[in-house]
Amino acid sequence: MPQADFRIALAQLPTPLEPAPRLGRALGAHKLYIKRDDQTGLGLGGNKLRKLEFLLGDARARGADTILTVGAMQSNHARQTAAACARLGLQCELVLRYGARPAAAYLESGNVILNRLFGARITQIAAPASREEVMQERAERLRAEGRKPYLIPVGGSCLVGNFGYVMCAEEMLQQFAALPHPVRAVVVANGSGGTQAGLVAGMHLLNARIKVIGIAVEGSRREQEEQVFALAAETVAALGGRRLPRAAVTVLDEWAGPGYAKPTPQMLEAVALAAAHEGLVLDPVYTGKAMSGLVGLFREGYFGAEDGVVFLHSGGAPGLFAYPDLFARYGLVPESASEQPMQLSLELDFPVRPVAVPCVDEIAPVDEQTAETADSAKIPMSADMAGQDLPLLIEPQAGQDLFTDGLAMQQEPTVAAESPASGADADSCCVDMEIASCADVAQAEPCENATSESSADECVAGAEAAPAAAPKRNSRARHRRRPGRSPRAKAPQ
Ligand SMILES: Cc1ncc(COP(=O)(O)O)c(C=O)c1O
Repeated sequence: MPQADFRIALAQLPTPLEPAPRLGRALGAHKLYIKRDDQTGLGLGGNKLRKLEFLLGDARARGADTILTVGAMQSNHARQTAAACARLGLQCELVLRYGARPAAAYLESGNVILNRLFGARITQIAAPASREEVMQERAERLRAEGRKPYLIPVGGSCLVGNFGYVMCAEEMLQQFAALPHPVRAVVVANGSGGTQAGLVAGMHLLNARIKVIGIAVEGSRREQEEQVFALAAETVAALGGRRLPRAAVTVLDEWAGPGYAKPTPQMLEAVALAAAHEGLVLDPVYTGKAMSGLVGLFREGYFGAEDGVVFLHSGGAPGLFAYPDLFARYGLVPESASEQPMQLSLELDFPVRPVAVPCVDEIAPVDEQTAETADSAKIPMSADMAGQDLPLLIEPQAGQDLFTDGLAMQQEPTVAAESPASGADADSCCVDMEIASCADVAQAEPCENATSESSADECVAGAEAAPAAAPKRNSRARHRRRPGRSPRAKAPQ
C-alpha cells in the first residue's frame, strides 16, 4: 500500500456516523444515518479540511509560504483554508466575490468574521470579475517579492484535494461494516465537485457497491456530472485503479433552484426539519439543498423505508448567520422567539410552506391551498433586529479599486498572521496514509495547475431572495421508480 506522507493531520477523524431516527421517522426512512463531516473540528469544521490535509501538505512539501484561494464571500472552503493556515503558520490570502447588491450581513457576518479572526488577507471583488485572474495577478506580485505562493482552486476541488474524500470513503466503509444492515447510498451536496468525486473514486477503488448521489447546489445535471466524472476519473487513474465507468457518477439538479446560494422553499423546509428533529444545523447554500434532495428522494419513492441511506453533512453552519432574515421567523423559528416582530418584510418569490417547528414529532405538510402565495409571503424580522440598520446595499464607490483595496469595511486583518512556516514543526504533523491499490499520490500534479472554476456567485442577499425554480417537471418521473426495483432500472452502482 502506497503512502502519502505529505498529508498533514488537520481534521478530527474519523467523524461520527450517527443514526437519525426522528428525522427518519418524519421521512419514512428507517435506516437513515448522518456522516458528521461538519464535525471535523478546526475552524468550526466542514468537508474542506479533508481536502486541505492533502493540499496544504502538498504546499508545504513544495516550500510554499503563502496560500491563495478563491470563493464566494461566504465560502466555507475559504474559511477552513484560513483556519488551517492559521494552525500551520502559513500566510493566507482569499479572493472572495460577491454578487449584485449584497446585504451587510452577507459581507460582514458568518464566515467573513472568522476569516478575519484567522488572520487571512481578504480581497473582495464584485461579480462578474474573475476570481482566478485576481488570484493569479496577486500570485505574480508575491513571486516578485520573493514569496512562494501556492494556489488552491475554488472549493479545493482538484486531484490533490480529492484524495481527502477517497480516504473518507474508506473511513465510511469501515463504519458501514459495523452496521446491522447494508448501506445503499450516500447523499452529498455537490458544488465544485471534489467531495463527490473523491467519494466516487474511493468507492470504486475499494469495490464498494454503494451509490454516491450528488445533489447539485447550482448548475445543470449534465455540467455537474461531467465535472465530477472528470475529477473522479483523474483521481482513480492517479491511484492506479481500473477505469471508472461514467455511470458511477450521478448528480441530481432538481433541488438546485435558480442558482448558487439562491433559496428554495424545499431548502427552507429541509433546514427546519433537520434542526427540529435532530438538532442538526444545516446551511442554506449547500447542506440545506442537499437535505432537500434527500427529503425529495424519500417522498418520491426513489428510496424505500428499508434502504440504508447516509447523508454526508459537509458543514457550512457559519453561513447561516450571513442570511439572518431568511431564517428569522416565518414558520422556521417559534413565534415566541421574536417577541415584538418588526413588520419589515423580506419578500420571497415563492410560496413558503409554514412548518410548525417546535414540539412536533412529525411535520405535517400543509395543504397546498393554505400555503402562502408569493404576494403574501412576507417575513417579519425578529425583534432583535430592532435598532439595527436595515440590510445595507453596498455599491462600490467611484474610484474605489475593489480588486486591490476591497470595500472600506475590508481591512487588513487585525490579527497579524504569523510568519510563514519555514521550520515549523512540519514533521510532527505528518501522518502516514494508505490508499488501497494506489499509485504514490506524491506524484500528483500540484493543485495550482487546476483550472476548474465554479460559476458560483453568491448573490443572495437577505433582502433579495431569488425565485425558486419549481422542481423540474420530470423530476418525479425520473426518481419515482427505485433503481433495482423496476425490471428496467439499473442496479445501484
Ligand atoms: C458546506 C459545504 N458543503 C458542500 C460543499 C460542496 O463541496 P464540493 O465543492 O467539493 O462539491 C461545500 C463547498 O464549498 C461546502 O462549503
